[in-house]
Amino acid sequence: MCITANIVAVLLSVLIGPTLGANILCLTPVPSPSHHIWNRAWMEALAARGHNLTIVSADVEQAVIPNMTYIHLEQAYSFLAEALDLDEMANANAFGGARSVYAWGFGMCKGVLSSRGMGQIMSYPDSFRVDLVVADVTLGPCMFGLLRKFGNPPVVGVTAYNNPSFTTDFVGGHKHPSYVPYVMLNYDHDMSFFERMYNYIVYSYDH
Ligand SMILES: *[C@@H]1O[C@H](CO)[C@@H](O)[C@H](O)[C@H]1NC(C)=O
Ligand SMILES: *[C@@H]1O[C@H](CO)[C@@H](O)[C@H](O)[C@H]1NC(C)=O
Repeated sequence: MCITANIVAVLLSVLIGPTLGANILCLTPVPSPSHHIWNRAWMEALAARGHNLTIVSADVEQAVIPNMTYIHLEQAYSFLAEALDLDEMANANAFGGARSVYAWGFGMCKGVLSSRGMGQIMSYPDSFRVDLVVADVTLGPCMFGLLRKFGNPPVVGVTAYNNPSFTTDFVGGHKHPSYVPYVMLNYDHDMSFFERMYNYIVYSYDH
């Protein structure tokens, strides 16, 4: 909750702050049209406020909008068929759900890192000024190698999904299984003893 609140606060301050025209690098590698629709909304809002967006993305728009430059991760969807069974994902229990998210993420990463778009952003001069990175972290930090290239600018993580177990691995914090329910379980904080035990087993399976 706390991390989410911080993210919202930072995002809001970027959205409604004084328009100083920042150079924003948007990393939206998640291969999912619906996630793109959600990301597109905040990206268009930022561009409309005069920020200059460089968007490295699994999905791109044909319409030319001032200050939005898309770089296509054209292979982002290429490895999903072999990695991910959406029917299984929809029907799965927490264990199957965990496997599906990792399959989706690994498939994404494989495609992203082999995309020509990745080469395109890598060929930007290291001196290209990036004031802020906004990254869709739904499936992990696959593209975070770029942060170093651009001098470790501040990063805001966003997601249209939930709070996956692995965010603590690259954001910090904790998800203690005794009171933080695993993302795939329909539990609240007040878990019974057996729910907590099951929660712990699923977390252990995940890691
Ligand atoms: C694009 O962004 C820059 C700031 O980076 C701003 O000065 C310029 O007015 C913007 N251009 C358009 C067409 O919105
Ligand atoms: C705005 O972003 C585009 C795409 O990355 C880049 O080519 C251009 O140089 C940027 N403009 C400024 C003023 O940095």
